Amino acid sequence: MNYPKLPKECTSLLCKYLTPQVFDALKDKKTSNGFTLEQTINSGVKNIDSGIGVYAGDEESYMTFSALFDPIIKEYHGFDTSDTHQSNLNPDDLNAPNPDPKGEYIVSTRIRVGRNVDAMPLGPAISKEQRDEVEARVVEGLSTLKGELAGSYTPLLGMSKEVQESLIKDHFLFKEGDRFLDAVGLNRNWPEGRGIYHNSDKTFLVWVNEEDQLRIISMQQGGDIKEVFTRLVTAIKSIESEVTFAYNDHLGYITSCPTNLGTAMRASVHIALPKLAKDMDAFKTITDKYHLQIRGIHGEHSQSEGGVYDISNRRRLGITEVEAVQDMYDGVVALIEAEKAL
Ligand code: ADP
Ligand code: ARG
Repeated sequence: MNYPKLPKECTSLLCKYLTPQVFDALKDKKTSNGFTLEQTINSGVKNIDSGIGVYAGDEESYMTFSALFDPIIKEYHGFDTSDTHQSNLNPDDLNAPNPDPKGEYIVSTRIRVGRNVDAMPLGPAISKEQRDEVEARVVEGLSTLKGELAGSYTPLLGMSKEVQESLIKDHFLFKEGDRFLDAVGLNRNWPEGRGIYHNSDKTFLVWVNEEDQLRIISMQQGGDIKEVFTRLVTAIKSIESEVTFAYNDHLGYITSCPTNLGTAMRASVHIALPKLAKDMDAFKTITDKYHLQIRGIHGEHSQSEGGVYDISNRRRLGITEVEAVQDMYDGVVALIEAEKAL
């Protein structure tokens, strides 16, 4: 493999950190699952508009290709190679009274974590047999959930297009055909091995074998962020008693994209900020101050509709889960104040 063509206008972290020297040092390396540098960078090489541009095929990728991953992790999370990751899932430590009890701004709240099964390759390097085994083990684990978390699993294979599209439109299900995931092999054998578990109210959901092997999700209408977090924590603990997940003391929970390492948590609200949105510089000054990310309302790489945005924590590694939600909460309080003042 030769040094890839990376156009000057490319602003991804891949383009920033894949220098010819780094490339030469890594180009012949492979993890024990056979994951190569070419696979690590293919998504960012094929999708020049990537923000990041790299994925890991297994936990070992983060070590084998550390000359590329470490600076990307440092820039995205502000996390150094000598830092360690700490977890805190105690809802009592979260200071988050509903910032919008009248429901004037916050449409809905969602908090998700990514998880991958211990001692299995991650999605980009997994075989079809291993993926099917992950699905079977996860579905069996989920079948033990009780009370509010009790629900059922629907495989994507055999789901009607109408049901699939309505679940996507209502923000419950992952999209199909993502080009970033496609280029790293995350869509191989689609739709086999993929599916969604949810309770009857769709306040608790698990995506199986999308970007990560599990995306554990708690969501509901309105701004009761603490209730959403508390439900998620109960679910994580119950599932963790059934399935062991990949975790290490330095990088926390291991995920296929380096942006999700650590807590693997994205806590978001869909929030109407039509006035603030007319001044994107002022909007971004607040979101930068609170380490927030702005997305559109149909998920990543989508646009806002009617002045409603998806606002979430940006950092996930080197901070605890409580701090990740607190980042989002404090920022949302500031955004609501700014909107009210206009
Ligand atoms: P992820 O959160 O899994 O990284 P996306 O940004 O693609 O990925 O979002 C997944 C789905 O979750 C999308 O349909 C998105 O609209 C929905 N979503 C995210 N945040 C919220 C929220 N606060 N309320 C309702 N739906 C949400
Ligand atoms: N690979 C894509 C990019 O670089 C997505 C990165 C972060 N999002 C994610 N879903 N992992 O733009």
